[in-house]
Amino acid sequence: MGTPPAELLSPAAISSRVKALGAQIAADYAGKSLVLLCVLKGSFMFAADLARAIDLPLRVEFLGVRSYGDDTRSSGVVQITQDLTRPIAGDHVLIVEDIVDTGLTLSYLREQLLARMPTTVKVCAFLHKPSRTVTPVEIDYLGFKIEDVFVVGYGLDHAERYRNLPYVGVLTP
Ligand code: IMP
Ligand code: MG
Repeated sequence: MGTPPAELLSPAAISSRVKALGAQIAADYAGKSLVLLCVLKGSFMFAADLARAIDLPLRVEFLGVRSYGDDTRSSGVVQITQDLTRPIAGDHVLIVEDIVDTGLTLSYLREQLLARMPTTVKVCAFLHKPSRTVTPVEIDYLGFKIEDVFVVGYGLDHAERYRNLPYVGVLTP
């Protein structure tokens, strides 16, 4: 099975950061029709924890995208694999992403969503690798900035493995 990924972010560190993000989001969106848009598959765990940390009425939608092959490098090609179930016109949409790497996925998603006439579109990303930016995108809420390492766990995969790790770890070759 190989060496387990080396821990970068512990479950406790993740949990306290997610709670703080939730509180901030709840304060900012009070009284608004908030839609949490969970970008599958990578952000399923983050979105589940974040949703519970936001003490507001909200809707949850899922959008399936694929931007990676089974490699650790971006293909630059974004494919929608599952669409929303309801319109988002007039809503305040918060895109919940696992990680912003090159920014290609997020900039593409923003464009696609803006065409559906939501009132606002903002971004909440669990992780960000600033050194890898190709297309700069504004991240309104960020969990953690990380170095240019390939991470897995807490929803993030490598070739569909490791999503169920309760921590974020660095994959060692
Ligand atoms: P971007 O389009 O390059 O910003 O890539 C975004 C997507 O690539 C994320 O939603 C992840 O699915 C995947 N990704 C980028 N970096 C990593 C990583 O370190 N581990 C796991 N997946 C990653
Ligand atoms: Mg992925």
